[in-house]
Amino acid sequence: MEQERVRLERRGAVALLTMNRPDALNALNSDTLRALLDRVEALGGDRELRAVVVTGEGRAFVAGADIAEMQGFSAEQAHAFSRLGHRAFDALEALPVPTIAAVGGFALGGGCELACACDWIYASEKARFGQPEVNLGAIPGFGGTTRLVRRIGIAWAKELVLTGARIDAETAQRIGLVNRIFPHEELVERAVAAGLEIAGKGPLAVASAKRVMQEGQDADLRVANALEQNAFARSFATSDRAEGMAAFLEKRDPKFEGR
Ligand code: CAA
Repeated sequence: MEQERVRLERRGAVALLTMNRPDALNALNSDTLRALLDRVEALGGDRELRAVVVTGEGRAFVAGADIAEMQGFSAEQAHAFSRLGHRAFDALEALPVPTIAAVGGFALGGGCELACACDWIYASEKARFGQPEVNLGAIPGFGGTTRLVRRIGIAWAKELVLTGARIDAETAQRIGLVNRIFPHEELVERAVAAGLEIAGKGPLAVASAKRVMQEGQDADLRVANALEQNAFARSFATSDRAEGMAAFLEKRDPKFEGR
């Protein structure tokens, strides 16, 4: 039952995770965060998986952390709750396959932070983003002062976090929070299609490129460039790289085996 708070469907090599607490606009309570963590940990061991799409049931992606649960928190309980959220989002971010957030409604507070824990965000015209915690006398607790800054830069992140303002999909795209906007009815399928497209690429190369970009972003440029050189070299020791280049030269489609 608890697991159903985060529904898992398989679309070929793509896993579709749906945040599923629509009566509370998919607000993240402790049970939902644990369910998300369980789902993500299970996906981490799935060798056939090539991409993950995260979306929300009903009119919200996720309207934030659960205010009703947080209301009575002591500082100590708030710390544990923030750690739980970070643990779940870190696990999602660390998946070796690309993760795409498909946001077709409210992505506020913890919802915007969940979207930022994905590799990129697709939105529909109905998407609304924001970090409204200051309206509640609190601050973001699941990455709004960290991942959001890295994603859109410090000035826009400060404007969103310090004003609590809500922005629409077009504004979110303009500031680099959203990659693409699709018609609402097509959103999830377009995100799944992007995942299926990735499934045709060399899986070791995709995982390696993701890891190097992730780690390089938090390193200084010389260290990041060295990480890239090493990973580039390692890719030449894979059969997939030999197959990909042979297929190109023989004018045929490659058959990647993840080796
Ligand atoms: N926590 C708990 N319940 C929530 C919720 C949340 N974050 N957001 C919505 N809900 C519940 C509402 O209480 C309501 O429940 P009832 O039907 O039982 O009354 C139901 O979802 C529907 O919501 P509304 O009636 O409010 O719907 P609306 O269309 O009028 O407004 C909204 C939609 C603008 C998203 C509004 O619900 C809202 O402002 N929600 C809170 C957004 C927010 O502040 N998020 C940040 C939370 S703090 C956080 O996330 C901290 C962190 O970083 C870890």
